[in-house]
Amino acid sequence: MRSSAILLPALAATAFACNLESSPNVDRFIRLRAVSPESEPLYTLEFEDGSTRQVTDDERWELKRAHVRFFDITDEPVTATYSSVSRTTNDEVSIAAFPTALTQVSQVNTLISRYTIANVRTNLQRFSSFYNRYYRATTGVESAQWLFDQVSAIISASGSSRASVRKVTHSFSQFSVVATIQGTSAKTVVVGAHQDSINSRSPTGEAAGADDDGSGSMAILEAFRTILTDSRISAGQAPNTLEFHWYAGEEAGLLGSQAIFQQYARDGKNVAAMLNQDMVGYSPRNQFGLITDNTNAQLNAFTRLVIGRYASIGFVETRCGYACSDHASATRSGYPASFVFEGAFANSNPSIHTTSDTIANINFNHIYEHGKLILGFLTELAFSPNI
Ligand code: BES
Ligand code: ZN
Repeated sequence: MRSSAILLPALAATAFACNLESSPNVDRFIRLRAVSPESEPLYTLEFEDGSTRQVTDDERWELKRAHVRFFDITDEPVTATYSSVSRTTNDEVSIAAFPTALTQVSQVNTLISRYTIANVRTNLQRFSSFYNRYYRATTGVESAQWLFDQVSAIISASGSSRASVRKVTHSFSQFSVVATIQGTSAKTVVVGAHQDSINSRSPTGEAAGADDDGSGSMAILEAFRTILTDSRISAGQAPNTLEFHWYAGEEAGLLGSQAIFQQYARDGKNVAAMLNQDMVGYSPRNQFGLITDNTNAQLNAFTRLVIGRYASIGFVETRCGYACSDHASATRSGYPASFVFEGAFANSNPSIHTTSDTIANINFNHIYEHGKLILGFLTELAFSPNI
């Protein structure tokens, strides 16, 4: 079963050639390995056309270098899907609605005035100084622990009894980090970023990952610190619960985010909205990229409203492709997601996944724009009764 599944008939190769835009067929890469040694573990990847393949680790990175996107579903073979339509008695159906007007403008502006880019810089300096944050490396565990300690320190300094942080462990060594600020209901709004980094030429090689995705990780960390200065949110008086996620193993196939959202779907947890922040520190055209594929159109309409009111730059609509980042895990699990990227996909940072993705190439003014977006998105939704 292990290796026979790899050497697939030409039929499958044809299917890939048709369905994966701009990528050569998957089997070309997988067939590079004639025989897998008995001892070598295999992983199950799912591709855009819905087909799956079992691959070795080397083949995984070969595919990634060729820009073939996939979910690694080895640990999540069955997909659970949350249904946001809640049925009450007599077939009444209540459907969540995202706000069409903003109600927290003065409080959001106060929070924005407290969002401190110097903190983002100091934290990103440290977070991008690990040799890499690879999901199976010792340094990837050390970086996760550093992050966990920062979140813990922010909670202690805030004095909030409603904020907490936990580690989510996985089948690999790096853990995800989840911080929660309880509201008066369990309805939850999530902002997420991936904490791992990769050097795609040599996965265990040097990878500062300053933009991908140290930038998003540290942008949401500062938003967490800032939002806890809101006395109502910090006291647990907002109607909805807020969560901050730092996913492990995104670069290997959206591992941490799949594990978390699949668990939530199995638990029937109501995640009303998810905002993904992957790459927020490089924007030659000084604009956001609002990702339109694998995201929720209604939530995107709200996100546009937030950008228009709280940010000082505009956006272009752009596509990211199948399984390009963690919002796809939320979408797959049945949760509405938005992804605001650093710019048009075509103008994205050319240094990612290399040793050149360093803090020297980071535009902190652009991170500040994302900071304003995050604070607006979270605060408005924290106080929205109908989501
Ligand atoms: N941050 C990237 C995704 C990205 C890259 C978005 C360039 C926009 C422009 C992410 O960390 C990544 O590398 N994703 C993988 C896919 C993943 C499922 C293995 C990719 O794009 O190769
Ligand atoms: Zn990446």
